[in-house]
Amino acid sequence: MNGKFVTFEGCEGSGKSTQLRLLSEYLKERGTDFILTREPGGGEISEEIRKIILNGKYTDMFDECEALLYAAARIQHLKEIIIPALNAGKLVICDRYVDSSLAYQGYARGLGAEFIKSINSYALQKYSPDVTVFLDIPPSAAFERKHGADEDDRMEQQGISFHEKVYAGYRALVAEYPRICAVDCGGTKFQTAENIKKLLISKGVID
Ligand code: TYD
Repeated sequence: MNGKFVTFEGCEGSGKSTQLRLLSEYLKERGTDFILTREPGGGEISEEIRKIILNGKYTDMFDECEALLYAAARIQHLKEIIIPALNAGKLVICDRYVDSSLAYQGYARGLGAEFIKSINSYALQKYSPDVTVFLDIPPSAAFERKHGADEDDRMEQQGISFHEKVYAGYRALVAEYPRICAVDCGGTKFQTAENIKKLLISKGVID
């Protein structure tokens, strides 16, 4: 594997999609050979799994089932899309990865880090990201910016206290793993984009 692997993480409404779009535009202008993909999803099978996980009508899904579905979608996506791109020397940018499972299922759902690490051991041991960008904005501020949650989305339906736990989970991950870099999102989207660019250049994953 000689490509670089960058993941983006953040709470609901953290502006991840906007930042990924701005970064993609920058990389396209520079002629960088990259792919932008997302979890859960990215390929046909994992997009189907995504529909089940996020379906608002499955209110009685067990937490363990949820965590295993995310892990299943991940390994399919990893083998089908991410690994071939890395082997071809591309830069891979992925919207969410294992850290989402650690923060949402491990921490906020209370399944614990060990369970999440065990069901994601292949991804964690062999395909750990070179850099993870954490868009740092507390959920209260993020929801305000996003004008509320999507009622058809099972994860967004969770109350604010769930999202506060997710945020606390991410803060704990930032403290534990040096590869996860928190980027303050308090400024304008262009300031945040500039900070992300500087960070990725300093880490040697883009130029
Ligand atoms: P999405 O609509 O892509 O949300 P966002 O734009 O915030 O990334 O939905 C992904 C949802 O799945 C989001 O609520 C986070 C959640 N998620 C987990 O709980 N665990 C995971 O491992 C992953 C990848 C996502």
